[in-house]
Amino acid sequence: MRVLVTGGAGFIGANFVHATLGRRPDVEVVVLDALTYAADESSLAPVRERITLHVGDVTDAALVDRLVGECDVVVHFAAESHNDNSLLDPTPFVQTNVLGTFTLLEAVRRHGVRLHHVSTDEVYGDLELDDPARFTEATPYNPSSPYSSTKAGSDLLVRAWVRSFGVQATISNCSNNYGPYQHVEKFIPRQITNLIDGERPKVYGAGANVRDWIHVEDHNEAVWTIIERGQPGETYLIGADGERSNLEVVQDLLEVFGRDRDDYEPVTDRAGHDLRYAIDSSRLRVELGWEPRYTDFADGLARTVAWYREHEDWWRPAKAATEARYAAGGQ
Ligand code: NAD
Ligand code: DAU
Repeated sequence: MRVLVTGGAGFIGANFVHATLGRRPDVEVVVLDALTYAADESSLAPVRERITLHVGDVTDAALVDRLVGECDVVVHFAAESHNDNSLLDPTPFVQTNVLGTFTLLEAVRRHGVRLHHVSTDEVYGDLELDDPARFTEATPYNPSSPYSSTKAGSDLLVRAWVRSFGVQATISNCSNNYGPYQHVEKFIPRQITNLIDGERPKVYGAGANVRDWIHVEDHNEAVWTIIERGQPGETYLIGADGERSNLEVVQDLLEVFGRDRDDYEPVTDRAGHDLRYAIDSSRLRVELGWEPRYTDFADGLARTVAWYREHEDWWRPAKAATEARYAAGGQ
């Protein structure tokens, strides 16, 4: 089986490539990635000889048509993924997330190729902190940010192409991932690398916002489960019951580094900041038999800290510019 992985040089995509080559030796991996600021070719270095990497844009219809025509399955990770950036300039989010997904859909339609579209729980908007509800596949779309609205738009395009053209596609909406190779702009790597540098973690507002954390390997195994056992046309929510407030995560990290639990810095809050995400992944567990393996968040976090300690050469080049961008916005 030949799999085209879009966005395979980004955080989740690179982990997907590693996991695929490690556990599914019959699969040939082809990566399409524009190598934006969020990508790092070196994330693929350990497997570079075993994959084909095409540096190109998912909105390039001719390139996408050729690559899709040569594969059996497309797994679509490529996106602009960071909410804070989408507030500064939404343009590439509309371009990549909406137009890129449209370009891919037209190609899989022409070639009759199976597509798995990787999306986010943020398409459902947010929940109140004291609301016992969690998102399910039936929750209405209600995105808040330019990022989440463009991901919602891309999901709706996939659904329409399934219904109108019979495209064989599945969608997954996953909660917040953590693990190796995540860009230092994101919450957990930003705080880990701040702590390595002796800086204080930066917490938006009061840190009360809740995210539902899942290890990236559990996400990617769920994606494979859906590719192998999911029903084309269907949507599956991916989550590992990992709800935690941002403050709790920061205090866990301060403890790992042997620092005082209150040694963090409150900074300017994110505009329109979603309060809480929470996933009910019963459908994926009951119908497809998926279960997360990283069920101990403290252990997963400690392993992630160890990874960043051992891979300073990987994250250091992006750190100063990322912090300068945040500092300009008071964050
Ligand atoms: P990332 O920002 O780390 O990586 C995105 C990758 O896409 C990069 O390698 C980048 O170069 C590539 N890319 C961007 N624009 C492109 C274009 N026009 N053409 C080709 N390649 C392009 O993102 P991530 O965190 O790995 O997220 C991957 C996918 O998973 C996204 O679709 C995101 O919406 C979704 N998702 C992420 C999370 C999370 O917690 N990170 C959770 C749920 C869903
Ligand atoms: O829910 C899935 C989504 O999770 C994905 O679709 C997105 O691609 C991914 O970036 C992530 O979105 P968030 O906005 O939740 O992630 P981020 O890492 O940016 O922030 C996590 C929480 O931490 C959020 O409440 C904002 C807060 N935060 C973030 C940073 C960078 C801080 O308090 N301080 C910070 O320095």
